[in-house]
Amino acid sequence: MAIETDVARHYGNAGIAERILAALSAANGPDAPVTVDALSVLDHFHGRGIVATQELVALLQPQPGEHILDIGSGIGGPARWFAAKCGVCVTGVDLTPEFCAAAEALNRATGLSDRVTINNGSALALPVPDNQFDRAYSQNVIMNIADKRQFYREAFRALKPGGVLALSNLCRGNGDELVYPVPWAETAATSFLVPQEEMAADLTTVGFAIVSFRDTSADILPTQRRNRERLERDGLGAIGTHLIMGERLREMQINSSRNLEEGRVATIEALVRKPG
Ligand SMILES: C[S@@+](CC[C@H](N)C(=O)[O-])C[C@H]1O[C@@H](n2cnc3c(N)ncnc32)[C@H](O)[C@@H]1O
Repeated sequence: MAIETDVARHYGNAGIAERILAALSAANGPDAPVTVDALSVLDHFHGRGIVATQELVALLQPQPGEHILDIGSGIGGPARWFAAKCGVCVTGVDLTPEFCAAAEALNRATGLSDRVTINNGSALALPVPDNQFDRAYSQNVIMNIADKRQFYREAFRALKPGGVLALSNLCRGNGDELVYPVPWAETAATSFLVPQEEMAADLTTVGFAIVSFRDTSADILPTQRRNRERLERDGLGAIGTHLIMGERLREMQINSSRNLEEGRVATIEALVRKPG
């Protein structure tokens, strides 16, 4: 509980949706529609933004009409993208009340409130029934979770038998301590990275069958390096994910890239199945 309080405090701040809608209006004009495409430059709150979400769609392969669970849904960018582009309904659960409020405001602005439902709650006690979802995903959340098996147990419980869970996660790399702050934590007190072998073992311990498990660090590295160089050279642009967390995100993103470049973290993409 203490960890969750600190994590929510790390992310939470007032006026997120208002800042985002004002920035979009300034950039695109006051009459421009607020669409998932227009928002996609700033509402996918993880490394590589919308590109990473598109890769997750390809991995999860949601089918029209399905009900999908997003664990740690942030301000709802990925959930809205899945709903709008794949014809599914999405339930998002997130710990940070201010993120949930922003997600709901942006759902309304995009006309997606009937297809994307947001619940403020914990991944460790998901406020959803058993065996409810066809598929689930979680993008860059598990780094904040100390009790990883409880996270996986809850995802397992929420999925229908035969349902799949796609994960994008950061794992410990060469064992060297991370450079902080990073986007998910100010210090090591709320950052819990484990070796990738431990992540795979935890998933199988709770009952998942591993469909695929891939270290994507080498693929991602060139883009992350370019992003770091751009941030160091040009700083933050007018529009971007810093509208969610403020100017401090510049240093956090630079450190995040540096951690990957120096082998301190590894990026993992996994697909696991609850036996049918
Ligand atoms: C880096 S953000 C990613 C947000 C979203 N998945 C995305 O990619 O746009 C991490 C998110 O995990 C959420 N989170 C962290 N710990 C959580 C927990 N125990 N239960 C639910 N959400 C949690 C945070 O509130 C935050 O929104």
